[in-house]
Amino acid sequence: MKGIKEEIERVLISAEEIAQRVRALGEAITRDYREGGVARDPYGRPLLVVGILKGAMPFLADLIRAIDLPLEYDLMSVSSYRNGTSPGEVRILKDLDRSLHGRDVLVVEDIVDTGNTLDHILRLFHARSPASVRICTLIDKPARREVEVPVHYVGFTLPEDVFVVGYGLDFAELYRNLPFIGVLKREIYEEAGVAGR
Ligand code: IMP
Ligand code: MG
Repeated sequence: MKGIKEEIERVLISAEEIAQRVRALGEAITRDYREGGVARDPYGRPLLVVGILKGAMPFLADLIRAIDLPLEYDLMSVSSYRNGTSPGEVRILKDLDRSLHGRDVLVVEDIVDTGNTLDHILRLFHARSPASVRICTLIDKPARREVEVPVHYVGFTLPEDVFVVGYGLDFAELYRNLPFIGVLKREIYEEAGVAGR
């Protein structure tokens, strides 16, 4: 079997840069919630960090270890239909185990692109009456936004014309295990036919 690194055209964000940024995000989140500017759980329960599967998994694992606060984490799995008849439709594959009622919730995403996925998740979450909801995304592509979503913590901002893989981000379910974020060689997309997102 070939190594996956051979299929990468260029590294956009190195593992070291990711680690440094994740540390800074963890410090910012720790500061904000510790100072009480965000935390409003009436029962003083710990921050509830919600990771969106599958893409956010490596980011979530590193980020929670950079947050110096009591926290719980839970996972939700959604699938977005982008090529079907109803663009922006989101289906829940696995819902949360925990109730959001009265909780301070920090949603952790891999990437915010059009914003449709997160918009759907936020509507669902707000209907469950949390005390507060904030969003932390590893990557933001603001130029591609179709729906406005409030993103409080951003790891890296990328231009619209770049499709990235690695550190949780996939192309046709592959490349999530790359330790860096990079761009695939053109022939990989061409072999696959369409840009499967
Ligand atoms: P949105 O609903 O358009 O914001 O899309 C979010 C989802 O699109 C992400 O969770 C990814 O699965 C996928 N996506 C968007 N851009 C990229 C990219 O550059 N690389 C990998 N996946 C992407
Ligand atoms: Mg994906």
